Amino acid sequence: MKKLFLTGMVSFLAISCSKKETTEPQSTDSDDVATPVVSQASGQTMIETSDCLSCHNISERMIGPSYQEIAAKYSEKDIEILASKIIDGGSGNWGSVPMQPHPQFSKEDAKKMVEYILKQKK
Ligand code: HEC
Repeated sequence: MKKLFLTGMVSFLAISCSKKETTEPQSTDSDDVATPVVSQASGQTMIETSDCLSCHNISERMIGPSYQEIAAKYSEKDIEILASKIIDGGSGNWGSVPMQPHPQFSKEDAKKMVEYILKQKK
């Protein structure tokens, strides 16, 4: 019994340690859809399909700061920091309400979302 448990643990650890491949959808095979290599839309799409908009709005402060406020406060050089913030969460820059972590996003995805947010500058 104990042995079985251990074996289970080992394979569990092996699975959780194996690196997750982030496979991004590559080009489509249909000709009528233009697929830009770096798409602003995909940052936007990720924001729209994730939970971001339940706390953020483009122009109005809700639970979190508006994207226009974020765009006004930060610039291109902050993309790294903001991307980590989306993934790891955090608080203290806008108030005491914390931003919840989003470990489901890769750094690249988070950066795309930040780039989209920064484009909302008034
Ligand atoms: C549960 C509410 C909530 C959700 C969901 C949420 N945020 Fe936030 N977000 C916040 C709060 C609150 C802050 C302000 C945190 C602070 O004061 O540092 C914030 C701050 C930010 C900032 C600015 C970070 C900084 O350091 O100034 C960015 C960028 C951001 N959010 C992007 C996103 C994106 C992208 C998503 C979706 C993947 C998202 N947020 C989902 C509440 C949320």
